[in-house]
Amino acid sequence: MKTPVFVQLHHDSAEHIRQELILGLTANPQPGGATVNPKFLYDALGSRLFEAITELPEYYPTRTEAAIFAAHSQAMTRSVPPGATLIDLGAGNCGKAAGLFAMLAPSRYVAVDISVDFLRTTLAVLQRQYPAMDMVGVGLDFSQALDLPPEAGEPGTGPRLLFYPGSSIGNFTPTQALFFLRQVRAACGTVAGSGLLIGVDLVKDAAELEAAYDDALGVTAAFNRNLISNVNRLVGTDLRLADWAHHALFNRLESRIEMHLVAQRDLTVRWPGGQRAFSQGERIHTENSYKWTVAGFSQLLHEAGFAEPLVWTDAPSMDAGRFAVLWASA
Ligand code: AVI
Repeated sequence: MKTPVFVQLHHDSAEHIRQELILGLTANPQPGGATVNPKFLYDALGSRLFEAITELPEYYPTRTEAAIFAAHSQAMTRSVPPGATLIDLGAGNCGKAAGLFAMLAPSRYVAVDISVDFLRTTLAVLQRQYPAMDMVGVGLDFSQALDLPPEAGEPGTGPRLLFYPGSSIGNFTPTQALFFLRQVRAACGTVAGSGLLIGVDLVKDAAELEAAYDDALGVTAAFNRNLISNVNRLVGTDLRLADWAHHALFNRLESRIEMHLVAQRDLTVRWPGGQRAFSQGERIHTENSYKWTVAGFSQLLHEAGFAEPLVWTDAPSMDAGRFAVLWASA
């Protein structure tokens, strides 16, 4: 049996994280206001809350994407090269990629996430199930730069299949998404058959979108408000949970769901070396989740250097779908 290889490339100092958060918190009220990067939603509790979100009746993306994979697996198998190196971006618990091993038949599985610590146990379990597959865990913040280490395999030695499910691309602005997709295109290398398999959430009715990001049980509210505890831990701020409410809205002009924390009274947030006043109703912008049309996303892939994609959705007519899975060969 082979053994998984682990490489940790991402290192962020506590002071760098603190500075990044303070910069966002002290951003000018106009035009954008205070912001916190959505990556800070995912501390240990936040990651578990996100897993709970994926099971909510209102949060359709995860189950719709899974249904698309199940319904179109034969067509996908015909398009996607077997024996590829499968590079799973934002692997998390590796569940989505592992569920596709039978269909994709990769020779090597490279799980990429911010920290290899999350990947150790899962890859050890997966290796026992697939003893002949090369398995590599990479700790990398690919939102900064997608620089894969040599352990991920030499780009010229076989096809590469980059996998980016869950509409995580929606958490990038369109400009960032284009920058990222260009790097993905470069990481595909030059071997014929290589490409990107990606899940993208589609534009739809505002009420359905807003319910998905403000569920009746309040799990998404807890996910957003948990950010307060994480920021307090990382910066030493004295933010109080009771002072901040969850707010989600669909900004149709920007084609994105926005999540905010809204101050419930006039207050001052203090931390070692600084402070910032917020008036009642003032917001901290915590996440964007962009929604695409199939045509708009295909155009973005084209600009990033990919061929015209194959598209599968949950509806017979593409733009009536709620979610799309696209295969874009490089
Ligand atoms: C991870 N990402 C794709 C989720 C989304 O839908 O934008 C994060 C999320 N935020 C609130 N609910 C889910």
